[in-house]
Amino acid sequence: MTDVMRDVASLRMLQGMWRRAGETVGLVPTMGALHDGHMALARAAREECGKVIATIFVNPTQFGPTEDLDAYPDTFDADLQMLRELGVDVVFAPTRDVMYPAGFGTTVKVAGLTAPLCGAARPGHFDGVTQVVAKLLNLGQADRAYFGQKDWQQLAVVRQMVRDLNFPTEIVGIPTVRAEDGLALSSRNAYLTEAEREIAPILYRTIRDAAARVAAGHGATGVCEAAARGLLDKGFTRIDYLECRDATTLTPAETPDPGTARIFVAAQLGGARLIDNVSVG
Ligand code: PAJ
Repeated sequence: MTDVMRDVASLRMLQGMWRRAGETVGLVPTMGALHDGHMALARAAREECGKVIATIFVNPTQFGPTEDLDAYPDTFDADLQMLRELGVDVVFAPTRDVMYPAGFGTTVKVAGLTAPLCGAARPGHFDGVTQVVAKLLNLGQADRAYFGQKDWQQLAVVRQMVRDLNFPTEIVGIPTVRAEDGLALSSRNAYLTEAEREIAPILYRTIRDAAARVAAGHGATGVCEAAARGLLDKGFTRIDYLECRDATTLTPAETPDPGTARIFVAAQLGGARLIDNVSVG
């Protein structure tokens, strides 16, 4: 049985009962419009934890003023069905008023890791992410919380927040789930037209090729610049970044250690801003 909860008190009560019963609790935060990438997180939680809470909340504070908050896909019934089939115990789907009632006034800001990449392209985005994830971690009181490596920077930022603020929850990173043609699954892929969907897998191929060239000893800056130009030639309309950086510190890596460097990309294709990353090694 999967319970749907929309208020804090119900979740707190249940989660307190689980605690007293000594259950291991897993938390899977999402914004809904679920696909196999989200389900990989939920599946790992289901396998590793006695009780699983999935959250569905399109967090307004992590969207910029010109971003797709109002257009963000809402497929709640289908999401619920998928989570039910997997045997998730609770779906916490609060309203905006529950998460941010009148008078709400606290922000959580991670310095450093939030500056480059998506932090530069989407000012304030990660402040919204840490704000809502801090709340969800406090609400869930979980032993483990699951995040995808597709959003590598988000995962790094959440890990840092959890370390800095002594959250008792272990953060688990799950590898990126891709379509057969390599495109990383994303709720935002729904914005692509059929023609754009044909072009989209070039993003992954491009950064995989760039990673191979960097691993072979070519300078990262030149490789990344050429790769970005290639994307523009293929129909991507804006490259927010295509860079080689250290996987942990996210500092630039010109002659990277293949063991610790990744290629990160964010690019606009039609109505969708797509992001991806791969290991250089
Ligand atoms: P959302 O984009 O819905 O993603 C929820 C979780 O699923 C994130 O941890 C994300 O990295 C993971 N995910 C998405 N696509 C994936 C894929 N193809 N393979 C593996 N994991 C994937 O990320 C957010 O929501 C929000 O920022 C959130 C953390 C919920 C805070 O609002």
